[in-house]
Amino acid sequence: MTISSSPRPSTASVPEVAGFSRYPSLRDRAVFVTGGGSGIGAAMVAAFVEQGARVAFVDVAREASEALAQRLVDAGHERPWWRVCDVRDIAALQTAITDAAGALGDFSTLVNNVASDDRHTLESVTPAYYDERMAINERPAFFAIQAVVPGMRRLGAGSVINLGSTGWQTKGAAYPCYAIAKSSVNGLTRGLAKSLGQDRIRVNTVSPGWVMTERQIALWLDAAGEQDIQRNQCLPDKLRPHDIARMVLFLASDDAAMCTAQEFKVDAGWA
Ligand SMILES: NC(=O)c1ccc[n+]([C@@H]2O[C@H](COP(=O)([O-])OP(=O)(O)OC[C@H]3O[C@@H](n4cnc5c(N)ncnc54)[C@H](O)[C@@H]3O)[C@@H](O)[C@H]2O)c1
Repeated sequence: MTISSSPRPSTASVPEVAGFSRYPSLRDRAVFVTGGGSGIGAAMVAAFVEQGARVAFVDVAREASEALAQRLVDAGHERPWWRVCDVRDIAALQTAITDAAGALGDFSTLVNNVASDDRHTLESVTPAYYDERMAINERPAFFAIQAVVPGMRRLGAGSVINLGSTGWQTKGAAYPCYAIAKSSVNGLTRGLAKSLGQDRIRVNTVSPGWVMTERQIALWLDAAGEQDIQRNQCLPDKLRPHDIARMVLFLASDDAAMCTAQEFKVDAGWA
């Protein structure tokens, strides 16, 4: 038996907001998302746009990014600001943040979402591959924070949301370099929350369980994976990108004004 007969919305990138919370505090706020062109990032971009926020994102996937922007426009929303940017290039990432802030205003929210969970083994990893994994999965978040903090200080508050993972916590074995990088996210969050908190800049981690993005379904979900979900989750439904986006909306909003330095798991109770 599988649990694929979920009655909940599909992975479509424009969320269905009816029945879910609206956050007046997010209206007109400027939000920056890394890796926002597809997957969970796209769901977050769409969710923030739906809330009336002014959204910017970067991604390497030009076609997916343009398609997302167009879907949002077709649905009657503002076109998000976006740019093709490889986050391994820190100067390009910080320039994109500066340019986007010039267009939208200082960012009150940064979502460090970009990552790549490509599979590898201990034996196959070279120093160059190790560095490349960190250049995508670890380094961009720190330097994106460095770029947005001056603007958050000008605003008098901000929310940084770092995407972690429960994969390393449940001993996922297929991606040791990704596990190392993702385990460092809690350190990034807790290492900055105290100093940035003095300026009312909150820093939190959101750690998803196994989320059914198109990429996960295409590359990794098989019969054994279906059984893993059924055996390990407490809840029977599969996680969707919008389940993560809803937690991120909350943490970006003023409803979460006193939440900082924490990890919030959205994993249906697996970890
Ligand atoms: N999907 C899951 O099951 C899952 C589980 C745990 C944690 N997460 C975390 O959630 C976040 C989003 O995951 P996802 O599954 O949507 O990821 P994904 O791989 O589907 O999407 C990541 C996005 O980043 C972009 N990207 C990749 N490399 C890039 C680069 N060098 N420069 C710029 N953009 C680049 C991709 O084009 C894509 O749009 C990640 O931080 C991931 O670690 C996901």
